[in-house]
Amino acid sequence: ERRASIPPRVVAWFAQNARDLPWRRPGFSAWGVLVSEIMLQQTPVARVIPRLEQWLDRWPTPDALAADSPAEAVRAWQSLGYPRRALALHAAAMAISERHAGVVPDDMDALLALPGIGDYTARAVAAFAYGRPVPVVDVNTRRVLARAVHGQGEAGPARTRADLAAMQELLPSDPTEAQAFNAGAMELGQTVCVARSPRCEACPIAELCAWRAAGYPAYTGPAAPR
Ligand code: ADE
Repeated sequence: ERRASIPPRVVAWFAQNARDLPWRRPGFSAWGVLVSEIMLQQTPVARVIPRLEQWLDRWPTPDALAADSPAEAVRAWQSLGYPRRALALHAAAMAISERHAGVVPDDMDALLALPGIGDYTARAVAAFAYGRPVPVVDVNTRRVLARAVHGQGEAGPARTRADLAAMQELLPSDPTEAQAFNAGAMELGQTVCVARSPRCEACPIAELCAWRAAGYPAYTGPAAPR
């Protein structure tokens, strides 16, 4: 069946095409994943990388950040924008230090209970740092699902429960494959299935794509808020 073929193709494509990003390197810490995901929420990958490395040089663990002041965190955040994120990260570091002996928790409930950590970040840390088979859905993943699964050119406004359910349905049961599918769907949306002028000729699921099969109909649904 068409839909069932999507995850293994994306997983195989990701194994060959994943960009070499710091948070994908073996041995990269769970704390580093948490910092990276918060930075990536409103800042492009290329701008995040140098800032992430500086941040982790200065504060290599949650304990290190917790021992410094929130004002220092905001100062170091500087030009990344949305400085509230620095305060969120500092608050999370304090809680990790106090409640979890400095170890970033590995389960969704404990992650969600941290201050400054929302549903997306909790999922991303569980999945990317700890290999938990939980669905992770960002704007890029949503576009891939909208096109390949739902035959729509754009994802429209986020519908978190439905988006997560759609991803959950596709998620491989094997944890390693689930991790690669979460990351691979995101990567596909960032590098191939881009919003304007998608590169369908380079897409591993072009023959499975409902939007392509329908002749790329123009999107007529509600616009995503911006
Ligand atoms: N954007 C948000 N999270 C990301 C990740 N883990 N890899 C690449 N881009 C991302």
